Amino acid sequence: MNLIMPKLLSTKLDETKDNKVIALIDKLTITEVLTKNEYLYILDNITSNTKKHLFNQGLLKKQIYYQNRVYLRGLIEISNYCKKGCLYCGINNKMEVERYRLDIDEIINTAKEGYNLGYRTFVIQGGEDSYYQTKMIVKMLKSIKDMFKDIRITLSLGERSYEDYQAFYDAGADRYLLRHEAASKKLYEHLHPDYMSYDNRINCLKNLKEIGYQVGAGFMVGSPTQNNEDLVEDLLFLKSLNPHMVGIGPYLCHSDTVFKGSSSGTLDETLVMVALTRLILPKTLLPSTTALGSLSPIGREKALKVGANVLMPNISPTEHRIKYEIYQDKICVTDTSDQCRNCIEGRVVMIDHEIDLGVGDALNFEGKK
Ligand code: 5AD
Ligand code: FES
Repeated sequence: MNLIMPKLLSTKLDETKDNKVIALIDKLTITEVLTKNEYLYILDNITSNTKKHLFNQGLLKKQIYYQNRVYLRGLIEISNYCKKGCLYCGINNKMEVERYRLDIDEIINTAKEGYNLGYRTFVIQGGEDSYYQTKMIVKMLKSIKDMFKDIRITLSLGERSYEDYQAFYDAGADRYLLRHEAASKKLYEHLHPDYMSYDNRINCLKNLKEIGYQVGAGFMVGSPTQNNEDLVEDLLFLKSLNPHMVGIGPYLCHSDTVFKGSSSGTLDETLVMVALTRLILPKTLLPSTTALGSLSPIGREKALKVGANVLMPNISPTEHRIKYEIYQDKICVTDTSDQCRNCIEGRVVMIDHEIDLGVGDALNFEGKK
């Protein structure tokens, strides 16, 4: 039998759902944790009305701990060589792209330029490139740390051994970004080739924490086959890991990968995950990611308005930027470092936030250093 619900009744039901979502958001704001089913209820039933409430709570929570400060990190993309085959990534080992790498002196010089532009954190990021032997990275870290005392160095060089992570830490690395990509093992395995191990990735994050780094996890929103259950797993995982940084960006389809033709993540669904993460981990550093800026001209500003508090302007040599194309239509690839610096400043001021050029350690870091 096909019953048509009277309009009044269906409006009442919608109102009840909205009220329940709002009540759950408020509970999360106060208790900083929900059950699996409660997160799922929010994701399954959120509407434009209730999203506004979530976004507002995300912003307020950020302001309690970080006010309207936005920390800047100078991002140096050191190499697009990568031995790994993440199926979604435009510079994976199967892609026929022009490869480049910076040598140690070029990295040090780029950091110097970044320092002169005011940056006090450098994010040294690259594909998993065996060219950089442990001793080279150690030498580079020591040189940069000898030169500048008032800085932090963040590494983002993928999965390495415990011994390597320890050596980098001892040489002066302060933070390490290693997105978990997907807390659901099934989804992780769908997004990666067989030889990549979910367990190893999670283990690397645990090792980094144990050594004493400020650790960054993170994931993509809207990746192929991802559903709300998968996203809930990300939230539960983050709560248990309690990382100091969480990078969340939309999945952006790269047409030369095996996922060509898949739909990309959307701005709104990414913002929902940023805001929820702010409520779950109030003291964590939450970057407003380049992928968000690539998806929408004001994507990064919007993320700052729902709970994010970090921006990572590119300071890589402009000539190489286009080659670090993990997804297409990436922003900033033709800009110079000072153009990005000015652009970011303008964007932050436009939304009544203010730039903080301090080292900006995470408030949930009780670290050894
Ligand atoms: N779309 C969005 N993000 C991507 N990354 C890699 N490929 C893509 C893509 N196609 C993200 C991954 C990785 C980070 C460096 O970039 O999460 O950890
Ligand atoms: Fe690079 Fe805007 S941040 S041009």
